Amino acid sequence: MSDSKLNASIEAIKYIKPKIDFNSIIGVGTGSTVNYFIEELAKIKNLFKGAVSSSEASTKLLEEHGIEVFELNDINEIVVYVDGADEVDPSSNLIKGGGGAHTREKIVASASNEFICIVDESKLVEVLGSFPLPLEVMTKSRSYVAREMVKLGGVPELRKDFLTDQDNQILDVKDLKITDPLKMEQAINLIPGVLDNGIFARCRPQKVIVGRA
Ligand code: 5RP
Repeated sequence: MSDSKLNASIEAIKYIKPKIDFNSIIGVGTGSTVNYFIEELAKIKNLFKGAVSSSEASTKLLEEHGIEVFELNDINEIVVYVDGADEVDPSSNLIKGGGGAHTREKIVASASNEFICIVDESKLVEVLGSFPLPLEVMTKSRSYVAREMVKLGGVPELRKDFLTDQDNQILDVKDLKITDPLKMEQAINLIPGVLDNGIFARCRPQKVIVGRA
């Protein structure tokens, strides 16, 4: 598995290298696959200006590798955003948020010129939904949102002992049949108290790199 993640990261570096210059800002996602990517990115850190990060964990790792991290608010253009996923369907719709960082990930992905998803083969599925769908919810709205998710056919479970970087909670929702990812993404985000859910259908990657051992 780790070989697959490393190989996907190496391919991503090969893909983005011709697109960057000394002024380029690269968007960086979160997770174990992205951790490999950050290691590879550090090897070419003299070829770009810096990064916008999607989580505190990635910020720490980037800075430890000597890559400058900028605030999204201070940046006009992100050339490319690279991130992992928990599930990828044949149309490149994703489930993300296994690490609870999907809200910021979706913002940085949306703000970038191009979104590259790096995964190992185990993430490829025919239909999204075997992986419980993460929802970032405001703490005070948790029970209400959970009841609304039951109405949509899901089985919500509070992620224990976990707060997001924004100090919100995560509901992981099992048993959803996500046959129309865009419709489901939008329907869930209309529930008051939901910050964002882990379906990436409106903002899909332009390229998915599948690493193999
Ligand atoms: C974090 C994410 C990650 O991209 C997703 O969970 C995949 O992680 P990993 O590369 O560790 O399998 O969405 O919020």
